[in-house]
Amino acid sequence: MSSKNIIEVNNLSKSFGKRKVIDDIGFSVKEGDIYGFLGQNGSGKTTTIRMLLNLIHPDTGEIKLNSFDLKKDFFNAIKEVGAVVEIPKFYSYLSGRKNLLLIANLIHGIDDFRVNEVLEMVGLINRSDEKVKTYSLGMMQRLGIANALLSNPKLVILDEPTNGLDPQGMKEIRNIILNLASEKNITFFISTHMLHEVEQICNKVAILHQGKIITEGLVNELLNIDLESVEIHTPHFNKVIDLTKNLKYIRSVERFEKGVKLKLERGFCAELNRFLISNNIDVEYIIPRTQSLESYFINMTGGDNNLA
Ligand SMILES: Nc1ncnc2c1ncn2[C@@H]1O[C@H](COP(=O)(O)OP(=O)(O)OP(=O)(O)O)[C@@H](O)[C@H]1O
Ligand SMILES: [Mg+2]
Repeated sequence: MSSKNIIEVNNLSKSFGKRKVIDDIGFSVKEGDIYGFLGQNGSGKTTTIRMLLNLIHPDTGEIKLNSFDLKKDFFNAIKEVGAVVEIPKFYSYLSGRKNLLLIANLIHGIDDFRVNEVLEMVGLINRSDEKVKTYSLGMMQRLGIANALLSNPKLVILDEPTNGLDPQGMKEIRNIILNLASEKNITFFISTHMLHEVEQICNKVAILHQGKIITEGLVNELLNIDLESVEIHTPHFNKVIDLTKNLKYIRSVERFEKGVKLKLERGFCAELNRFLISNNIDVEYIIPRTQSLESYFINMTGGDNNLA
């Protein structure tokens, strides 16, 4: 994978009146990333995205898109960027296709064929001749993504693309994003307030908390830092709890219906297994459990899962 930065943000700050909404943030998105910008309501996600698209201007800081400075070289910076900010707006009394044709006519070099292509990409081709006012929220989002794809962007920025959708609708949007990333090599920058969503599709994440980035990194690395979690299925749970709670490589021990859940230092599972067997514990199964980003987040903030 190329290591070229497609978004580069340094020292970005923005206040509205006296309230500092974005406080000196920096991050970089590389070509091929599906980058999750995670934060609760009011943390500053949309404000950041508006700045990335030059819809509002930062007080301080620098934004580069595709290596071009957004302020100094707007046209080149924004040229290969598509975006959907909040709920996309279309003419409700026209069909999805007609809406896109109107927009396509304003963009140099986009023909009707491309409109069909993008409708295919988002799975809307069969419903594209129906009026937009009959569309579900999920279909509106898909039409928004189709619109963002019209000019063949390298980077697509989506502000909470699954907000308000039911689980099936969320899954459809996630699949569209994954397909576009792998088949069309599109880089995605996606804001969300759902940890679960980041875990499912993003390779990289920044956690925005009260206008500051408190963590940035590869999702895999954040999930597998220095601990691993295992479930020991055993009828001898009390004995396991007593025996293991003071071992130096054990971090936490917790009873559950089939036995005991343990958090231990990475690489100590075989030793734990030998130890249990040598103490005549019936180990029925040892099942590895990846730590979810949510539990990572809870650990990191000392048990406080409040992102806001
Ligand atoms: N134009 C504006 N004028 C004044 N305050 C604003 C403006 N836009 C945003 N804010 C404030 O900035 C803060 C961050 O808002 P923002 O919309 O960026 O958050 P968000 O992370 O997108 O939240 P949500 O998840 O609800 O969409 C909020 O306190 C909001 O009230
Ligand atoms: Mg928002």
